Amino acid sequence: MSPNIVALLYLTASVCFIQALKGLSHPTTSIRGNLFGMSGMAIAVLTTAALVLENVRDTPLAIGWAIVGVVVGGAIGGRLALRVEMTKMPELVAFMHSMIGLSAVLVAVAEVAEPWAFGVVGKGEPLAAGNRVELALGIFIGALTFTGSVIAFGKLSGKYTFRLFQGSPVRFSGQHKLNLLLGLATAYFCYEFVATQAWAGILMVLILGLALGVLLIIPIGGADMPVVVSMLNSYSGWAAAGIGFSLGNSMLIIAGSLVGSSGAILSYIMCRAMNRSFLSVILGGFGASAESQNAGASQQRNVKSGSADDVAFVLGNAESVVIVPGYGLAVARAQHAVKEMAEKLTGKGVNVKYAIHPVAGRMPGHMNVLLAEAEVPYDQVFEMEDINSEFGQADVAIVLGANDVVNPAALQKGSPIFGMPILDAYKAKTVIINKRSMAAGYAGLDNELFYMDKSMMVFGDAKKVVEDIVKAIE
Ligand code: TAP
Repeated sequence: MSPNIVALLYLTASVCFIQALKGLSHPTTSIRGNLFGMSGMAIAVLTTAALVLENVRDTPLAIGWAIVGVVVGGAIGGRLALRVEMTKMPELVAFMHSMIGLSAVLVAVAEVAEPWAFGVVGKGEPLAAGNRVELALGIFIGALTFTGSVIAFGKLSGKYTFRLFQGSPVRFSGQHKLNLLLGLATAYFCYEFVATQAWAGILMVLILGLALGVLLIIPIGGADMPVVVSMLNSYSGWAAAGIGFSLGNSMLIIAGSLVGSSGAILSYIMCRAMNRSFLSVILGGFGASAESQNAGASQQRNVKSGSADDVAFVLGNAESVVIVPGYGLAVARAQHAVKEMAEKLTGKGVNVKYAIHPVAGRMPGHMNVLLAEAEVPYDQVFEMEDINSEFGQADVAIVLGANDVVNPAALQKGSPIFGMPILDAYKAKTVIINKRSMAAGYAGLDNELFYMDKSMMVFGDAKKVVEDIVKAIE
């Protein structure tokens, strides 16, 4: 294939990726965005495969390895993607980030070992200084992304027994100073590698990158994990761009940069949504403390509770109802039942709207995806900044499996989630809250909303409760 054709195909794929990002910015255009993304990826993969086949035409063993890689990797990826539940998606994403980080490290180490095999220098010649800088950065970012993502996966899945990998933050005195020291040491060893191309320098960069990945993520509290996952997404993009430089592949550089910058922008938007400082995320060590994580569990207070029949009565007599979906709705897979309930209410002349918090659920856009799956009309779905002013006039706010995103503790100074913007459900005339128990939400905090005079709890699995409400409305 001529270089011009390759460049043209890569350019087409890049334009598709940019269109994909544009499309994914709104639910109404997200299907188009996904189609652009898939087409771009298909063009990129096929072009790269054709290039690889051309380069290794005389070495069938290399072709065999490439095919084995595609088949085994594709099969594992496909199986994981098919089996993963929506609520476990952040873990899958963290796992994929770790693989991208590891790939970046392996490719860069291979280039340090045999640079001539990558066509960047002749056999026995030293690497150019520019190449050494790329490799040092690629290995550092890749290593940090790898171990950071492994820790994030452990914190999100709760599967590991080793305390470092569990949800609660691990902090010790002098943590930031240690990180700074390791950061400075990394800069020194990068310099040494760039100056000498010696293995010792690059191995130290690798070890320090692996260590910093662990140290930066362990102090982060569960409530701040979404930002971490999105930040690691950004790092994995830069790591991929690093591989692109190592392999001299412009497609990887462009796609990696797009992932890197869009991940960084998403992290920034999420920081704003949770009222966190972006700098403190990058430095690590923020989030709910271990004590506050358990604060909610010990409280024993009385609440008003009701049945599905009570809820149906209140909803049926309302003029306006705002539905607040949260993580529990996703766990219960109650989105179809909720849509049915909303349709029944709309049929009775009730004005129904859905309120979406940017970090409701366990991944960005989780609630939008869930409601879109049930084909809830987009014009009934409102983002936090657009709906918050309406809670004051709403007759009923019905909170389904949400907790932190409606917790008025965020308004109180000293609370671990102080300053996090919330959905103002507490301003509605009546608040109905469905969850299974009085257990705390993700941030581990008690929720004053449940104890307000105008609040009514309806205990039970969201799907069962909503189905019962639908029956009662009928
Ligand atoms: P949470 O605060 O996690 O609360 C969810 C509530 O749902 C829980 O209190 C739980 O109470 C209830 N629940 C669980 N299963 C249920 C079921 N089957 N039926 C009914 N209720 C059920 O959720 P949220 O309000 O959506 O807030 C999200 C939190 O997750 C935030 O703190 C956010 O920072 C964090 N987070 C977000 C993301 C992203 S990117 N969205 C990623 C990771 C973490 P019971 O156990 O009593 O039922």
